[in-house]
Amino acid sequence: MKRVGFVGWRGMVGSVLMQRMHEENDFSLIEPVFFSTSQVGEAGPDISGKSTPLKDAYDITLLQEMDIIVSCQGGDYTNDIFKKLRASGWQGYWIDAASALRMDDDAVIILDPVNRSVINEALNKGVKNYIGGNCTVSLMLMAVGGLFERDMIEWASVMTYQAASGAGAKNMRELLQQMGETHAVAKDLLDDPASSILDIDRKVVEKMRDEDFPAQNFGVPLAGSLIPWIDREVTHGQSREEWKGQAETNKILGHADHPVPIDGICVRIGTMRCHSQALTVKLKKDVPLEEIEKIIAASNQWVHVIPNEKEASAKELTPVAVTGKLDIHVGRIRKLNIGNEYISIFTVGDQLLWGAAEPLRRMLRILVE
Ligand code: HSE
Repeated sequence: MKRVGFVGWRGMVGSVLMQRMHEENDFSLIEPVFFSTSQVGEAGPDISGKSTPLKDAYDITLLQEMDIIVSCQGGDYTNDIFKKLRASGWQGYWIDAASALRMDDDAVIILDPVNRSVINEALNKGVKNYIGGNCTVSLMLMAVGGLFERDMIEWASVMTYQAASGAGAKNMRELLQQMGETHAVAKDLLDDPASSILDIDRKVVEKMRDEDFPAQNFGVPLAGSLIPWIDREVTHGQSREEWKGQAETNKILGHADHPVPIDGICVRIGTMRCHSQALTVKLKKDVPLEEIEKIIAASNQWVHVIPNEKEASAKELTPVAVTGKLDIHVGRIRKLNIGNEYISIFTVGDQLLWGAAEPLRRMLRILVE
């Protein structure tokens, strides 16, 4: 059995990974070893009734004993440890949720339902670093990977509606605190059916603009508002999250040398853990809508095409419908007035599952089966 070291398994992505590994009985295939950056020596998690003390995640000698290391600890840890570990001669597989190594030439971005052939080729070539993709990119490709696979897309513009979870666990808590405070300030007026909606609105907006409004993590109110910028600026007013759309998509698909142009605006909205995206796609040629729907529906077993109707869209094409599930919902598929080669698509997926933990879990499975 392969010895698999886990680092950062207690954080939000790590916890989802652990939960999914239990559900899929993955631990029966490996010898897990749990590391910690802060609680060395304390009891590790219970795996089939057994728990061993946590090992030091900064101890290169201990890490060297692993055949595979799975890190959800974040980019700072990867930047600190990965190079030292490789420099020590360690030849094991490194699976990472952080973006630190993602664009390196000796790393593959993993999303096996979409790029299993790229992963297989890399394994045959001896590539040892397998990195989870940006959540927005992974969720977009899970939705429309079929169109990319058939080389049908000339370009795509992607407008995102990204959940608080993408910013971290603290941000999810802050979003709820913000929701609570905005409700609390208006509660008395809300309870009085004769009160004026404009008075309610004024109280709410005053609260949101108050210096004491809880916004340490987002920096600004998100509940009742939105943030049209995610991550730092990369170039010419494009954010890093927007830059990743083209860079990572083309790397995942294995054609970074002749990239499909992709760009758009990434926006944070007040949902908990589902990212939604509205795509405008320019197809290389006019293809009937039914055929497009069939290709999307057949791309993988998790995609569900939602009929482009009001009720189905409102019920099924939403974070509420998808959250906590592996399902990827894809709808609002229609031809745009702009021309027959232009289609719209709206997709929703769980940011912590396909957007983070699931590709890592599946890569581990590929290595140990
Ligand atoms: N960068 C993403 C976001 C999450 O902020 O939503 C990580 O892929």
